[in-house]
Amino acid sequence: MARRWTNDLTRNDVTPEAVFLNRRRLIAAMAAGTGAAALGSIAGPALAAQGDMTPNTLEEITSYNNFYEFGTGKDDPREYAHLMTTSPWSVEIGGLVERPGTYAFDDIMAKMTVEERIYRFRCVEAWSMVIPWNGFELADLLNMAGVQDGAKYVAFQTLLRRDEMPGTRYPVLDWPYVEGLRLDEAMHPLTIMATGIYDKPIAKQNGAPMRLVVPWKYGFKSIKSIVRITLTADEPPTSWNKANAREYGFYSNVNPEVSHPRWSQANERRIGGGLFARRQPTEMFNGYGAEVASLYTGMDLAKNF
Ligand code: MTE
Repeated sequence: MARRWTNDLTRNDVTPEAVFLNRRRLIAAMAAGTGAAALGSIAGPALAAQGDMTPNTLEEITSYNNFYEFGTGKDDPREYAHLMTTSPWSVEIGGLVERPGTYAFDDIMAKMTVEERIYRFRCVEAWSMVIPWNGFELADLLNMAGVQDGAKYVAFQTLLRRDEMPGTRYPVLDWPYVEGLRLDEAMHPLTIMATGIYDKPIAKQNGAPMRLVVPWKYGFKSIKSIVRITLTADEPPTSWNKANAREYGFYSNVNPEVSHPRWSQANERRIGGGLFARRQPTEMFNGYGAEVASLYTGMDLAKNF
């Protein structure tokens, strides 16, 4: 199962020498029965694939945001998200699960294993960051609720509290914000519920107290401040697809070859790179193809965009 760890980068991995000391990769290599000799071959490709994995600063990550419930400007979330009450918080898990119910955030956290994941983050607007998330695997949460056999999709919903969310006065989107994943995407080990950034509780503008992160998909799939998770048999509606089906599909996998109708997706602007920094090429599946391409075998990714 070394595959699982290939992109599981911790902050130490950013310095090459630390890669060889990385405990989890060492364990992965041992588990594969290949011992220390395999370290080079596991760490090598991971390093090559990671490109510039220097994380963005906390200031950048918390000041350039999309969270339309607080306005459509990039600095609106930082200015207004403090209005949102995030404690106490609970998540209603329902639909095709064995143990439906209202789960308190603190009870969830007591059961989950939180780890650091440094992921590239690529917005559909063609900017990107590298973010050191703290979070747990969504699969662990879904297994806690018990997924029933008939479940094929997972639907997510953001909090809608109009008096705390000034952006919801405007019909920019059909509130509440909703998103969805196919069950196998949701259960994939790269898919996490983020609860922190840089080892601090996640800022409200980034989706406190827990938000989805699906690193191979455009950022809008990574729905913030989640209050409801529903396991379904049918593909659930998603906010951006409802707003403009021609521009935003259900899958929204990062794909440099499929342009947005109004701009190219071939390259991206790294936030924090400076005004004159060169744009960098966008990678298929945002660089996570080795882990996730097999989820889409036989699918036409231009049609299922
Ligand atoms: N979730 C909600 N509820 N509302 C939003 O407007 N914006 C999405 C996504 N999740 C959004 C959301 C978009 S377009 C992006 S790019 C990311 O959040 C931005 O995440 P960040 O601000 O933490 O970088």
